[in-house]
Amino acid sequence: MDIIHTTSYEALSQEAATYIAKQVRSNPSIVLGLATGSTPTGMYKHLLKDHIINKTSYGSVTTFNLDEYIGLHKTDPNSYYAFMEKHLFQHINIQKDNIFIPDGLAVQLDNECKSYEEKLNTHGPIDIQVLGLGENGHIGFNEPGTAFNSRTHVVELTASTRNANARFFKDTADVPSHALTMGIASIMGAKEIILLVAGKNKAKAFEQLLYGEISENFPASVLKKHPCVKIIADSTVLGKSSIIA
Ligand code: F6R
Repeated sequence: MDIIHTTSYEALSQEAATYIAKQVRSNPSIVLGLATGSTPTGMYKHLLKDHIINKTSYGSVTTFNLDEYIGLHKTDPNSYYAFMEKHLFQHINIQKDNIFIPDGLAVQLDNECKSYEEKLNTHGPIDIQVLGLGENGHIGFNEPGTAFNSRTHVVELTASTRNANARFFKDTADVPSHALTMGIASIMGAKEIILLVAGKNKAKAFEQLLYGEISENFPASVLKKHPCVKIIADSTVLGKSSIIA
């Protein structure tokens, strides 16, 4: 795993966006795996700037999102569909048909999982998968204990994850109890993975990722087995300001 230690969240966001925009320009039909949450929002902001300034085109880009809450309509501001629209999709020239996000309102959730994997097979593999890190080590919504060979599945969110995400909702009780998520094996199928880690609240998880053992009890540890992982961390995570690269 390569670690790029940036001096601030802003620098982390810029670093990630610059890298992704460069890859999009060199491979216009790239397949991107995208994450939601607080960590990648700065990166999306910089991708929008780049789209305007450098005219990076998303006309042939395909995207797959990691996950979606079950039970929220696309128009619900807390759905990940709405998040992606707000932070990225409505601002760039991506084609609607090239955007894939699990459908949290599907009646047959198992079929939705199967169909998402089929789409990944048809349009994939993902060239670059962007990930955030959960405080409990989750990636996507793969909570501790998830099998490393898991594919897209329905998950019951842990209290830790629901509490961490409650800041987006009026009340913790409003945070959906279940979600659809790409599995660990689906994520590991990406050719390259970029893990963004920012904020003091991630310091413990980051330390465990670096120094802990590879275990299903700490999902992100699986990344040590991937041949091409770049971690971009900010200074609050390591408490230093040099670039390790
Ligand atoms: C989001 C996702 C989650 C988040 C993680 C960190 O699509 O899959 O794994 O990346 O919960 O969230 P933030 O960035 O809000 O701290």
